[in-house]
Amino acid sequence: MNQENIAQIIDGKLIASKVRDEIKVEVAALIDADKDTPHLVAIIVGDDPASQTYVASKERAAKSVGITSSIYKYPSDITEEELLNTIDFLNKDDDVTGFIVQLPLPAHINVDKVIDSIDPGKDVDGFHPVNVGKMALGQPSYISATPAGVMELLNRYKIETEGKHCVVLGRSNIVGSPMSILMSRKSKPGNSTVTICHSKTKDMGSITRQADILICAIGQPNFVNADMVKDGAVVIDVGMHRIPADNEKGYIITGDVNFDQVIEKASFITPVPGGVGPMTIAMLLKNTLLAYKNANNS
Ligand code: GUN
Repeated sequence: MNQENIAQIIDGKLIASKVRDEIKVEVAALIDADKDTPHLVAIIVGDDPASQTYVASKERAAKSVGITSSIYKYPSDITEEELLNTIDFLNKDDDVTGFIVQLPLPAHINVDKVIDSIDPGKDVDGFHPVNVGKMALGQPSYISATPAGVMELLNRYKIETEGKHCVVLGRSNIVGSPMSILMSRKSKPGNSTVTICHSKTKDMGSITRQADILICAIGQPNFVNADMVKDGAVVIDVGMHRIPADNEKGYIITGDVNFDQVIEKASFITPVPGGVGPMTIAMLLKNTLLAYKNANNS
């Protein structure tokens, strides 16, 4: 294959480290000025291995930039009431800048009720209806970290989005839905013409092949193959799947996109791992710093 036909890799690891460095400088200035530093809390329920890994990475990343991090761990049989009580406690604790409730939650807990109970000013995940509503209206808000991370990558790689056809695969509350809103907003990046595809979409390939920018958050490993991608498209892979494998770890990580095929068709592509994933954590830290500034009028 001719080298010219290979997509440029969007290095999320590198951009995430730049974002973290910028946060670190701001937190260091707070420390120098003898101010309190931001404090991020993560609540985790149960022992889902992927969630444990995410939360551990979030804690490591927070500490690396000087943000205090705490993890509240609960067994999977915690009652909804106990969880709501913890959230109430964190809402009222002035020492806590922001907090997240790692999803998914066990089936006996009503996720909407849990998210609704978070103080929108401490909702650094940007999941609360107030923050989602403000985002949709283009008002200052906490934007959910994964879509915010994708926007940051498009921005830092100077990828033109105005007037482009952006196809979003998936309509989840965490990624697909906010992604589609952000890409269609009157902003830079943004100003795209957006189509959302989901499980009920007919002949998905006929739509994805029209995409100048294809954002894949459909939750199925290697779903997007070369046939579904237009020559020169920008392909963003939000998927993250552990596939059992005969190696030391017992699994490999793969995304929603068949990377080896699509790299030969796209102009830009995010790898998995090392693409959108590291950005999610960096943007969560950015939201935490923003919550700190909002709470301290700084
Ligand atoms: N589960 C998967 N991604 C996320 C995330 O960004 N935030 C939370 N709270 N849970 C998740």
